[in-house]
Amino acid sequence: MLNNRDRIGETGINWQTAALGIGKNRRKTIGFGLYDKKAREYQDELYIRELSIIDGGIGCALWDAAIILTRFVFENRNELFKDISVLELGAGVGLPGIMAARFAQKCYLTDYIDTVNENLEYNVSLNCNYDTEEGEDISENEKLRRSYKDRTKQSAQVLLLNWDDIKTSENPQPDIPLKSIDIILGSELTYTGNENTINCLIEVILAYLSTNGVFIETLSDDRDGVPQFLEDSKQRGVTYRAVRVPDHFMGNFNTKQRPETYKLYLFARTQGIEQNERYQQVCRVFDAYEQNNG
Ligand SMILES: C[S@@+](CC[C@H](N)C(=O)[O-])C[C@H]1O[C@@H](n2cnc3c(N)ncnc32)[C@H](O)[C@@H]1O
Repeated sequence: MLNNRDRIGETGINWQTAALGIGKNRRKTIGFGLYDKKAREYQDELYIRELSIIDGGIGCALWDAAIILTRFVFENRNELFKDISVLELGAGVGLPGIMAARFAQKCYLTDYIDTVNENLEYNVSLNCNYDTEEGEDISENEKLRRSYKDRTKQSAQVLLLNWDDIKTSENPQPDIPLKSIDIILGSELTYTGNENTINCLIEVILAYLSTNGVFIETLSDDRDGVPQFLEDSKQRGVTYRAVRVPDHFMGNFNTKQRPETYKLYLFARTQGIEQNERYQQVCRVFDAYEQNNG
């Protein structure tokens, strides 16, 4: 038992409620920012489709951690994500990457199962396309949303990337240049304590992270792989910092996952960390969250 919850398999999560319980092939609208009661819409919205876990494993459903990370991206969109290069690892249905693609210059969304990647392509397209009518009168908010969609169309690229391939290739996904990424994103990537997967993941992060780059991940405290991932990262010359997810990112997940405690993690190469402006910048964001957490 973990936090009074029954364990299923190695991970302590009930996969069926997390992934299957929300229904097969269901499309969801997820709102961000303020809700305008009159217009009955959020400041920003993203759309995703979930598949059945049978079709492509655990990447077929949206995890609460991904919603938290997407809220983080939205809140820090102007300060951290404008015109940068982003890579989402183990993207699943791709929510954080799709949000980042609205602001980034380039955003790679990656996973390693064909079905998951086909769904990722579909989810990107859901957030790119819109109808136009001649002479239409559109609100300022709608204009902004369309500009986000146009940017997503330009910046988002879905690619297969299997972390295990780092064992046999220096660059397991040649379409992504080595050491080119400013911010790598991930949610619930180390959900099991499989040491081989954890080691490969760390090598992949180090392969793609630019010298001034950071890796930001959301993880539940209940995942078995977290202590191992943190320890192995340190051994590989990576420094990390963690902060409890602030309350305003929690709640209204609508995923049927049980309530859990989450942290935001920030990683960067220890060497040169003093000169890593981006690391310092995200640290200041974490400082503010820590103060609010009390
Ligand atoms: C727990 S799910 C989280 C999905 C998504 N990040 C979210 O939070 O909604 C873990 C993801 O990692 C991907 N994954 C697991 N092992 C992988 C590997 N060796 N290479 C690439 N992706 C992998 C899975 O396909 C899945 O999408």
